[in-house]
Amino acid sequence: MVRTDLESNLQAGQKKRQSLPMRVWIAPATLLKRRRGYLVSDVFKTLACVMTALCIFQFVWMRHLQAGWVRVPNDPFDIRFDDNVKWNSPEIWKSERQAFIHSAMPVPIHSHNDYWRRIPLFEALGSGCISVEADVHLHGSDLLVGHSSLSLNRDLTLRSMYLEPLQRMLDMQNAHVTDGTWRGIFDKSPQQTVVLLIDHKTAGPETFAELDVQLQPLRDRDYLTYWNGTKRVMRPLTIVATGNAPFESVMAMNASHRDIFWDAPLHSLFSRYDNFDMEPPVYGYNRSNSYFASTQFKNGRLWAWHDNSNPQPDTPSRRDREASQIEQAKARGLVARYWDTPSNPPNLRDIAWRVLVERKVGILNMDDLGAVRARASGWGQIEL
Ligand SMILES: *[C@@H]1O[C@H](CO)[C@@H](O)[C@H](O)[C@H]1NC(C)=O
Ligand SMILES: *[C@@H]1O[C@H](CO)[C@@H](O)[C@H](O)[C@H]1NC(C)=O
Ligand SMILES: *[C@@H]1O[C@H](CO)[C@@H](O)[C@H](O)[C@H]1NC(C)=O
Repeated sequence: MVRTDLESNLQAGQKKRQSLPMRVWIAPATLLKRRRGYLVSDVFKTLACVMTALCIFQFVWMRHLQAGWVRVPNDPFDIRFDDNVKWNSPEIWKSERQAFIHSAMPVPIHSHNDYWRRIPLFEALGSGCISVEADVHLHGSDLLVGHSSLSLNRDLTLRSMYLEPLQRMLDMQNAHVTDGTWRGIFDKSPQQTVVLLIDHKTAGPETFAELDVQLQPLRDRDYLTYWNGTKRVMRPLTIVATGNAPFESVMAMNASHRDIFWDAPLHSLFSRYDNFDMEPPVYGYNRSNSYFASTQFKNGRLWAWHDNSNPQPDTPSRRDREASQIEQAKARGLVARYWDTPSNPPNLRDIAWRVLVERKVGILNMDDLGAVRARASGWGQIEL
């Protein structure tokens, strides 16, 4: 009797030294063998284990279901790009699929967190989006695409998912162009540029420097929009840096060939860099260094306001300060964009979109490309 107790104590002691995941794992198996005192905590561990597994499963499944968001019956994109076609499968380059992408009608829509789409890049272009977003993390000497540092994968790089496919498409579009002009992605509007918005998630200057290096093949082919010292020269692809990308890094680029533009802060465009003594005024954020001007929807000021308590005369500076954000962006030659627009419920989401289009926002941020394909024609004008 004494010996048995000693033995079981010994066993219990050994069990205690096992790692926590192991103990949780063996808990169901040993549940029935254990004495009553252990039973409660083992039941609890087993339940915790099962609940965790269910939560993970649900999370993965929800992500899977959300990949397509709105399902539209007989959607022409879904028919041609069925579930067997992946972003990196050779079948995606079949001429009928590429022809489908190039025949899309471009719309002023930005594919937000584009790498979450079922088929990144191709789905956005095939839906007519003129702008796509990739979040990048500097990892060693490569740029990996993903939302958080936990979701990174060595195969999902900025090069493989975005830079190389874009170069390949533009090579095909320009194979027979010999007169020094260029053709962009969209055959219905061949001079339309496509924006690649690169959200720097890791340290700004280092990530920016690596991006600069990786753009060289596209730069060599003259596919990148650039500032030539006096004018912005449009090309089929426009690179815009956001997130941790520093404005100083953009400004430090060669001022007579600057081909990475900044995403200026739409809520504070009126800045001390502006000079209203000039006619027309010189703005700190302008076409030489920025392309988009963006802010969160909740910071939005969509209407001009007039400060009646301010007795100062109506100066250009005052007019600019009191203008709506979209008007401020327009004065600076920038494209206004709001992110984090309400997404639920759908009627509220649609009202927000409609108001932004009525206020002549530059580009609409969208997650749901099914809705873009079904309804986007007529959603605003392209004026980039
Ligand atoms: C910049 O581009 C404009 C328009 O194409 C051109 O007129 C101008 O000469 C260019 N400037 C330089 C420095 O190349
Ligand atoms: C800046 O770009 C111009 C035009 O491409 C080029 O001629 C010049 O050498 C560049 N300057 C530097 C410092 O790289
Ligand atoms: C653009 O802004 C920079 C400062 O941010 C300024 O030096 C430059 O003169 C401006 N250029 C134009 C064309 O307004």
